[in-house]
Amino acid sequence: MKTIVISNRKGGSAKTTTAVNLATELAKNHSVLLIDFDTQGHASIGVGSAPVEEGGAHSIFLGHTLSENFIPTVLNNLTLAPAHAFFDVYEHSSLRGVLKNRFQKEMIADFFDYCIIDTAPTFDAVLKNSLEVADVVVIPFVPHHLGVIAVGQMVRAVYQISTQMNAEIKHVGMLPVMYNPHIEEHKASILKVQSSFGKAKLFKPIGTDIKLSQQFESGEPIVLMEKRTKGMKDYKDFCTELLLRIE
Ligand SMILES: Nc1ncnc2c1ncn2[C@@H]1O[C@H](COP(=O)(O)OP(=O)(O)OP(=O)(O)O)[C@@H](O)[C@H]1O
Ligand SMILES: [Mg+2]
Repeated sequence: MKTIVISNRKGGSAKTTTAVNLATELAKNHSVLLIDFDTQGHASIGVGSAPVEEGGAHSIFLGHTLSENFIPTVLNNLTLAPAHAFFDVYEHSSLRGVLKNRFQKEMIADFFDYCIIDTAPTFDAVLKNSLEVADVVVIPFVPHHLGVIAVGQMVRAVYQISTQMNAEIKHVGMLPVMYNPHIEEHKASILKVQSSFGKAKLFKPIGTDIKLSQQFESGEPIVLMEKRTKGMKDYKDFCTELLLRIE
């Protein structure tokens, strides 16, 4: 199993949109677990479910197993561990290695080809638990000045976790999102990220597509919609590019 963590501490950078579209695209041909580790529960909503008020993925920090929280989704091959809507990370002082431990004890890798983790825009113990099990980290970012700064901050955070916690993160990639080729700042910002981290780390951008927002309202992931849209194609290409890099 490969675990792909979608993360950026900057809010509104299409982490959830990326997690949902990647998970659903992969689930066409693979067995996929989507863990919603953001109490907002937007990834759960994106696959036709909702955050829960009891249990949920966050309940592993309260002594529960991960698999008791699994629920089916709109796709046969896609299992969801929904978010716990009110989990308060600050009430729990010792959360080290909990997810890693659950993965090992429950042999999660035997049941899924891919695990996608959607994370909240905060640098807290839940994010650290996610990075600790990551094989791959994808950092979606909106290509403007603060977006570029946030990428640098996130890369440093990933580096810190991998040295402190012996995490075996093998790939880190940056995904420009909500890209508009007619906006000069977008192109310049992508070039800045390229020059800081290398061209090989950048994925082809995801363009702006209102259908990507609307999928959350319908609870039907865009990959299942009949009409092909630009956003659908962009995420499909991203998925292909990602698999080529990590396989
Ligand atoms: N390519 C896109 N085109 C148009 N709208 C988009 C695109 N990507 C994301 N959005 C919209 O932008 C908003 C933020 O996206 P999303 O919720 O995925 O970001 P996030 O990083 O998960 O946010 P948060 O930090 O709150 O978790 C949403 O309303 C989403 O529908
Ligand atoms: Mg989100």
